[in-house]
Amino acid sequence: MTAPQSTSSVTVVGLGPMGIALAETLLRQGHSLTVWNRTPEKADGLVAHGAHRAASITEAISASEVILLCLKDYDTIYDIFDAADHALRGSVLVNLNSGTPTEAHAAAAWAAKTGAAYLDGAIMVPPFLVGNPESVFLYSGPRQIFDQHHAVLATLGDPRYLGADTGLAVLYNTALLDLMYATMNGFLHAAALVGSANVAAETFAELALDWFVPFVVTPSLVEQAPNLDKANYPGDFGTMEMNLNALDHITRTSVEQGIQPDLPQLMRAFGERATAKGYRTNNYLAVFEIFKQSSGA
Ligand SMILES: NC(=O)c1ccc[n+]([C@@H]2O[C@H](COP(=O)([O-])OP(=O)(O)OC[C@H]3O[C@@H](n4cnc5c(N)ncnc54)[C@H](OP(=O)(O)O)[C@@H]3O)[C@@H](O)[C@H]2O)c1
Repeated sequence: MTAPQSTSSVTVVGLGPMGIALAETLLRQGHSLTVWNRTPEKADGLVAHGAHRAASITEAISASEVILLCLKDYDTIYDIFDAADHALRGSVLVNLNSGTPTEAHAAAAWAAKTGAAYLDGAIMVPPFLVGNPESVFLYSGPRQIFDQHHAVLATLGDPRYLGADTGLAVLYNTALLDLMYATMNGFLHAAALVGSANVAAETFAELALDWFVPFVVTPSLVEQAPNLDKANYPGDFGTMEMNLNALDHITRTSVEQGIQPDLPQLMRAFGERATAKGYRTNNYLAVFEIFKQSSGA
């Protein structure tokens, strides 16, 4: 792990598993650390390693140049800070809670009223990977705040600035989690299919995850991503009709093998909707047009 270029005074508010990981990393990298948590005893281990436990949220605010928030949700911010928002004028808040873009925008508006600078963020790794230089942390909001505190943010991982729209960090966060759940469910269903013939998931993983995903799925999507931006779905190498047949085979095989067919059926239904919208001769990625609509109509 590389040492930060400079050290700062940092306050961490919120000492759940993630807040503790952030605090431990900051301490290890030599930053001057103040912590505050609703349940103060959770700071005991950190205090033993040199952190200062603020006696009040007002003290936690005034102790540091940067205040990192790592709480259950956005509402918790107001539970904690509303009684002390007079102390926030001139502070720098970096919020790493999970939430929605609307909640992020509301938090930025609230911070502006208190006179604090506000950067929104999202953590893309579990606590044990905090501090690894390859662990991605997403940020959005004023670029100047990001640049000014880059050294502290780089202590935690690889800080990626996404843009001035405050909601972008949590939007990317949920989009990546959306991808994660869809991918995991795809693997689980596929593993259940081969599992119906007593193939171990571990055996299947060698072909599916070591070869098929990196060598077929990823390059195909990388190549097609620019086409998605142009709503261009060339059917040269396979039409929607061909893909509907493939999804039909997956559904029928699932039924034959006695496993749940709902997932391929759902994916086929999206393809059918795209067909009804005129994408029969395009490729399957034209379902993007269905996903882009709020009702999926
Ligand atoms: N854990 C992960 O793997 C992970 C990964 C990425 C992102 N995140 C995000 O990081 C944030 C923190 O997650 P976490 O895993 O550390 O635990 P968490 O259970 O989401 O949050 C725990 C923290 O919130 C505080 N809290 C909850 N309700 C409160 C209230 N009404 N008033 C004051 N404080 C309150 C807790 O205080 P007490 O200690 O007093 O209960 C504790 O400090 C979340 O937004 C989460 O989505 C977590």
